Amino acid sequence: MLPTIEWRGDHVRVIDQRKIPAKVEWYVCRGYRDVIKAIQTMVIRGAPAIGVAAAMGLALGADGIRTNAYPSFVRQFRKVAELMAAARPTAVNLRWAVDRILRLVESMAGAPVDRIKTAIRRESEAMLAEDIEINRRIGEHGQTLVPPEATILTHCNAGSLATGGYGTALGVIRAAREAGKKVQVIADETRPWLQGLRLTAFELMQDRIPVTVIADNAAGYLMRQKKVDLVITGADRIAANGDVANKIGTYQVAVLAKENGIPFYVAAPLSTIDVRIKSGEMIPVEEREGKEICCFGKRLMGPEGVKAFNPAFDITPAKFVKAIVTERGLIRPPYVRGIGKIFSS
Ligand code: MRU
Repeated sequence: MLPTIEWRGDHVRVIDQRKIPAKVEWYVCRGYRDVIKAIQTMVIRGAPAIGVAAAMGLALGADGIRTNAYPSFVRQFRKVAELMAAARPTAVNLRWAVDRILRLVESMAGAPVDRIKTAIRRESEAMLAEDIEINRRIGEHGQTLVPPEATILTHCNAGSLATGGYGTALGVIRAAREAGKKVQVIADETRPWLQGLRLTAFELMQDRIPVTVIADNAAGYLMRQKKVDLVITGADRIAANGDVANKIGTYQVAVLAKENGIPFYVAAPLSTIDVRIKSGEMIPVEEREGKEICCFGKRLMGPEGVKAFNPAFDITPAKFVKAIVTERGLIRPPYVRGIGKIFSS
């Protein structure tokens, strides 16, 4: 399985996901601004992966602060943290990771700045290892939903590349295979960035899990022909009522699944659940440049000057979600109660 991100001496390097599958190349981040740029330009993407990247980016940011006085350090560090948290708006894992590091820094108030810098780096390393472990647990719980033989449809890439490793939705598929189940995957191509075609298909082929790519608009046709047994996706943010923000196109897949009597599941770590947000309407949805839709590479495919609207995510209302798979087990509807219970236990 490909690594997503790692420390390399004094710098962080990430697999450049824009280049997969043509090339598997590292992208080097020497300072926190490089990490912000990598997140914004989709060098690294996927909710848990950008959370880990943010933590590592903050360690780079802390290293660059030249003072030995805690008050000055924390003042400068908070500015870096706010810039990092704003890199992309929808995936709450980014804010979650920044807040976790900020809490660490605040808990060490008055300690020597060098010790704080070391602690931030250690925390970011721990967050990477934890994320992989969490995904394995999501996989264990989630695979219980998969029948002994199953065709599973997924949207976008919620795999190893979208996380510290192993993946959330693809983690469930991997775990089902490890449990001896016969699984095959239908991967939506996922326009406009083609995460399904480029990344999900690439990861699954590396693992020798059978995968077939379809155009996004073919999902309903296949479901109606009874060629899909279940759907599983990742999430970028889940509201307290179970509404799910995920890659644009997820909502229509969920509606089609319900219409065709196919279970639609979401796999995500607890760090993706934002209990401060009551419902999906309050989740900020990133809008990206229209040229991502209108161009293939640098080539414009539409008429010069055409207007395009490019929301990167959509919201799937909780009523379409049969269960949410977390590292602590399955959450079933009603989600307000289920999510409340899991956070209070
Ligand atoms: O724009 P992206 O590629 O960052 O969007 C990613 C997704 O929507 C994933 O499905 C989500 O982050 C879950 S990843 C485990």
